[in-house]
Amino acid sequence: MPIGSDIRRFASLPSTNDTALELGRSGAEHGTAVVADAQTKGRGTKGRSWHSPQGLGLYVSFIIRPDDPDAAGAAIPLLPLAAGLAAADAVLGSAGVEARLKWPNDLVCGKKKLAGILSESVSRGGRFVFAVVGIGVNVNHGGSDFPADLRDAATSLKIVTGRDVDREALLARLCQSLDSWYNSLILGGKDAVIRAYESRMAFVPGDPVRVTTASGERPGIFRGLAGGGGLRLERSGRVELVSLEEIRGLDWD
Ligand code: BTN
Repeated sequence: MPIGSDIRRFASLPSTNDTALELGRSGAEHGTAVVADAQTKGRGTKGRSWHSPQGLGLYVSFIIRPDDPDAAGAAIPLLPLAAGLAAADAVLGSAGVEARLKWPNDLVCGKKKLAGILSESVSRGGRFVFAVVGIGVNVNHGGSDFPADLRDAATSLKIVTGRDVDREALLARLCQSLDSWYNSLILGGKDAVIRAYESRMAFVPGDPVRVTTASGERPGIFRGLAGGGGLRLERSGRVELVSLEEIRGLDWD
């Protein structure tokens, strides 16, 4: 079933990811989407929350259940990158906004965050079964719709374009584009997704970046993405790999 063929809509949910995880556990098909008009406990990465006011953002989670989960297992960690590409296509197509990708989970306009991705996998007996990819896009928020602590760091399609953006049209494009990037990841391999992702990143090879992991802040030079989706960071002439699991924060000039 193409992604987004079955869309379950809710006025309000604690978190669309939680509902999609429940539906996935009870057997819902690949491509099922869960959309809510508001979230009361929207979740971000690293245990953060996702501000989800009524009627302003797009809050959607997709069930990703590959036909052959064992064969697809190696590609699953790259789902946030495929989802980032899809979200970038969708905001360009529906609002004309050219967002950049901030590895590994964010879309930004300049330095301000426009969208975030939370991908979660479910395994049984150590074997991957399905994943849920949650995407939150700030769509029709005005500056004062963000809490004070997010106001400097966040933006929305409305703030960038100066007009309201149709959330349904955005959702339709997102489903279409995620289906296409997912197929390219599963059928065409990881490389095509990684190269496309690199070409739309907020910083380019050779740029100085500051990466934060559990062991602290590491300044270095960005040297592109590795085959598994990790970031190659040059420090004192040596290239280190920062994995998708390790990253806590990232800044660039
Ligand atoms: C992040 O940038 O920290 C990721 C944010 C992900 C937010 C989306 S909104 C839809 C889905 N449901 C959730 O609870 N979280 C994701």
